[in-house]
Amino acid sequence: MAGEATGTQWTPHPASTDGILADFYSDMKTIPTDGMLQAMLRAKVGDEQKGEDPTTNELCQRVAELTGKEAAVLLPTGTMCNEIALKVHCGPGDEVICDRSCHIVNFEAGGPAALSGVMIHAVDGAFGMFTADQVRSAIRPPSRYSPDSRLVAVEQTTNLGGGGVWPLDQLRAVATAAKEHGLSTHMDGARLFNASVKSGVSVQDYCELFDSVWIDLTKGLGSFAGAVLAGSREFINDAWKLKQQCGGGLRQSGYIAATGLYALDHHVDRLAEDHELAAVIGERIAKLPLIERVLPVETNIVIFEIARNGPTAATLVEDLLKSGVRVGVFGERTVRIVSHLGVDRKAGDLLCEHLERILMKSDR
Ligand SMILES: Cc1ncc(COP(=O)(O)O)c(C=O)c1O
Repeated sequence: MAGEATGTQWTPHPASTDGILADFYSDMKTIPTDGMLQAMLRAKVGDEQKGEDPTTNELCQRVAELTGKEAAVLLPTGTMCNEIALKVHCGPGDEVICDRSCHIVNFEAGGPAALSGVMIHAVDGAFGMFTADQVRSAIRPPSRYSPDSRLVAVEQTTNLGGGGVWPLDQLRAVATAAKEHGLSTHMDGARLFNASVKSGVSVQDYCELFDSVWIDLTKGLGSFAGAVLAGSREFINDAWKLKQQCGGGLRQSGYIAATGLYALDHHVDRLAEDHELAAVIGERIAKLPLIERVLPVETNIVIFEIARNGPTAATLVEDLLKSGVRVGVFGERTVRIVSHLGVDRKAGDLLCEHLERILMKSDR
């Protein structure tokens, strides 16, 4: 049985696809394609915890090569990649510099504090992206009174920043500022391939100055589980130890890894289609009278704010749901729409028609 994860209680809910015609809630709403399922059926598997799963080993090798790192490890989720990376890089009392909007601050249930005992030094970037000068000002001079600045973490692309793509120069400048002060660097690459497909910059170039980086097999790649964390051999050995401590050692994970390998071959270039769909949806929404603003649409995320004389985000989302269209509430008047493998132009039209119906009416 599925559940409602937004309240303080986990309450039973119908299956998440019941009655849904177009699901723009998140790019994690995909289900494996036939080709992906066939790849799973053919997968050679073994005991991952013992290093004996050939398909997982192949995937880790491939992600290490793609990101230009020495080694990689498969983990169940991207959240676990972030949390393990923070714990490898930092000790209790250390400080992590990151954007205020990022996933580790907002959606990991306080994991940085609970699991690693770190402080977050949140900076206010533009659309989730900050500058090298902001990093320099956030780094604390060594002092017996202050926490030690230890890590700079970025998201490529930015989630709450509206799918924004960090320009390569800015990313390099930020990492260089960190390194000049002896800090480590971490990249949350939940949507790294979206950035690469959009900009034409290789994944390896984006990752060059980052000590650790991970990619999600869910989201744009369309798998149902798994994320791969990459870094130096020493970093990955430490990450493996923590994976084991969390009970994250897997067995025949080749069935998951096979979906990742399949997605790397078949689902990366097609991200351009998701970006196109998001751009069209963003343009249509921007024309509606009850819209305060739409964040720039760079990749597969559209975030917009409803004007004061329009419905609240929750009312809008409820209204859409009745028509079989799902989007996400991200604030009292803020809504997020995400395009992915599971939605197409037709779904986009359905979404826009209902948005037009609801947001043409004034004074709700
Ligand atoms: C930027 C970003 N980082 C991390 C995550 C967490 O990934 P996962 O759902 O695989 O734990 C998400 C999920 O939406 C995300 O958007």
